[in-house]
Amino acid sequence: MIVYGGDWNPEQWPEEVWSEDVALMREAGVNRVSLGIFSWSWLEPVEGAFEFGWLDRCMDLLAENGIQACLATPTAAPPPWFAHTYPEALPQDADGRTFTHGSRQAFCPSSPIYRDRALRIAEQVARRYKDHPALTIWHIHNEYGCHNARCHCDTSAEAFRAWLCERYQSLDALNEAWGTAFWSQRYGDWAQILPPRATPAIGNPAQLLDFRRFSSDALLDLYRAERDLLAAIAPGVPATTNLMAGMHWEMDYWRFAEELDVVASDHYLNGDEPHIQLAFSADLARSLNKGRPWILMEHSTSAVNWQGHNPAKAPRELLRNSVQHLARGADAIMFFQWRASREGAEKWHSGMLPHAGTDTKIWREVVELGAALRDLADVEGSTVGADVAILMDYASIWAQDHPAQPTAHHKPIEIIRQWYGELWRLGVTCDVRHPEDDLSGYRLVVVPALYLVSDAGAARLRRFVEGGGIAVAGPYSGIVDDNDRVRLGGYPGAWRDLLGVRVEEFFPRESVELTSGRKGWVWSELAHATTAEVLDTYVTGEPAWTRNAWGAGAAHYLTTLPRGADLRAVLAEVCADASVPTADAEGLELVRRSHPDGRSYLFAINHGDTEATGGGVTVPAGEFRVARLESASQ
Ligand code: GAL
Ligand code: ZN
Repeated sequence: MIVYGGDWNPEQWPEEVWSEDVALMREAGVNRVSLGIFSWSWLEPVEGAFEFGWLDRCMDLLAENGIQACLATPTAAPPPWFAHTYPEALPQDADGRTFTHGSRQAFCPSSPIYRDRALRIAEQVARRYKDHPALTIWHIHNEYGCHNARCHCDTSAEAFRAWLCERYQSLDALNEAWGTAFWSQRYGDWAQILPPRATPAIGNPAQLLDFRRFSSDALLDLYRAERDLLAAIAPGVPATTNLMAGMHWEMDYWRFAEELDVVASDHYLNGDEPHIQLAFSADLARSLNKGRPWILMEHSTSAVNWQGHNPAKAPRELLRNSVQHLARGADAIMFFQWRASREGAEKWHSGMLPHAGTDTKIWREVVELGAALRDLADVEGSTVGADVAILMDYASIWAQDHPAQPTAHHKPIEIIRQWYGELWRLGVTCDVRHPEDDLSGYRLVVVPALYLVSDAGAARLRRFVEGGGIAVAGPYSGIVDDNDRVRLGGYPGAWRDLLGVRVEEFFPRESVELTSGRKGWVWSELAHATTAEVLDTYVTGEPAWTRNAWGAGAAHYLTTLPRGADLRAVLAEVCADASVPTADAEGLELVRRSHPDGRSYLFAINHGDTEATGGGVTVPAGEFRVARLESASQ
């Protein structure tokens, strides 16, 4: 089956409402709900005193109605007693401001007392429900790092030092890695090291980078501790936590994904052309799960409440969004949340059951979606294949977040999105991969913005091209090593040989005219083609686009950043070089999922306002179709 449902927060409602909830869930075809996510103060109202009666009744109700429970550990929202009793466990920002309760995620990730109390409530939940028939999967915590990704308090300082000690073993090695010869930052004692806090001038970039790595690890460590505890008490029940793939960049999700039994991710529409960004998030979630079906743990039926301006979704948008996630490999389509809240910080956030009740656009679409997913039950387990991989690494993005860059306008996330967007328009399905992953199954590897790359990552791309692959890299990629130290001898030090290009100097500027008539934005370089063929130049003559034959393959390089149709044209040629088929998608999104036995599905989602045809399927404006293909090509 395809899992369908959302967050159920029964503690927000009187008990009479629960049976109506469950009846309506059945009407909509809901077969799984997440519950207990923010229930800590209702499960442990007084420290050490537990009240499970209400949750027992909810779990029983679900079991009686054949609805699975994705049961949470409520550790993302410590109760008021926690902050009141243990103020030392509250998180602090870089300016020394302490946050307190009254919202959620008010805890220091490195606090031993938080860890202890979190594990205690998680243990209580696990012992109580380990054999409950509704229990299907654990939802550990909620969106790690969403609000407290980095804590700068004294406890965190201590933990940071221990983390550094483990990483570098000696102070000499740390001084070397952090380049502390610069501005007299040489450390003579571990005790002198702090998290990056307010400083009179620009901080040490390697310190910032390591602090971000440490901070991600600190939360991952909490995940592991809860997961191990649950696994010991309830062996065989899978565990996950909801990531925010493509939306949140504070945690190293490559490392998180390794620890999840199945990747779950949340997505909310945001920015321009949100359906393209949705596709990117879904492709990233699938890639984090190594291509296997993943769980869309949350998305919205309509408006969210946390943007300055929160438009409701257009008619059918809920359906299109959901089917996009399904097309891109999700086997579970879930929403935040089941019933829209009457009160609290998210009362203006849409739900599956809106304030206005069942005689509504949202409810009718929710019911329609449930029926559609039931009809598509056989899609479960099928996978999405991709010829193209986009390289993305969190550490690289973090390293570039340091304020002293050649320009603040070279924004890696934005660039990755732009490149992804043009590939989407060309109808190309992409995986997203970590630079150190094995790339050998792909035809084309795209490196839009990878400022930092390790030696191992640099070697991977070289080997991929040597073996016959085609690569394309954007400027300011392959520039520094793991510790944000410049790779010398001409940029980009990691791939000068592979690209056949040597760059002397960066010239950030608003835009630059190219001989082809195209335009580059933000960035330009004084580059020399050493062994590469020059495919386009600035009107002043320097290389703008190059191609270097390397081993059995070739590597393209752009010294500037074309956008829109210009970028699309370049990527189309690169795809042709890699024998990756392209199409003019014109708003008709086509994605295929296949089973190993050859049964496959063509998902066609029409984002435009006119009927569109592609892959042999005609789709009315705003609608979707799923064609079952009994492929002969096994
Ligand atoms: C997510 C979160 C949910 C809810 C939702 C609103 O970040 O996990 O609890 O807050 O956003 O869009
Ligand atoms: Zn802290």
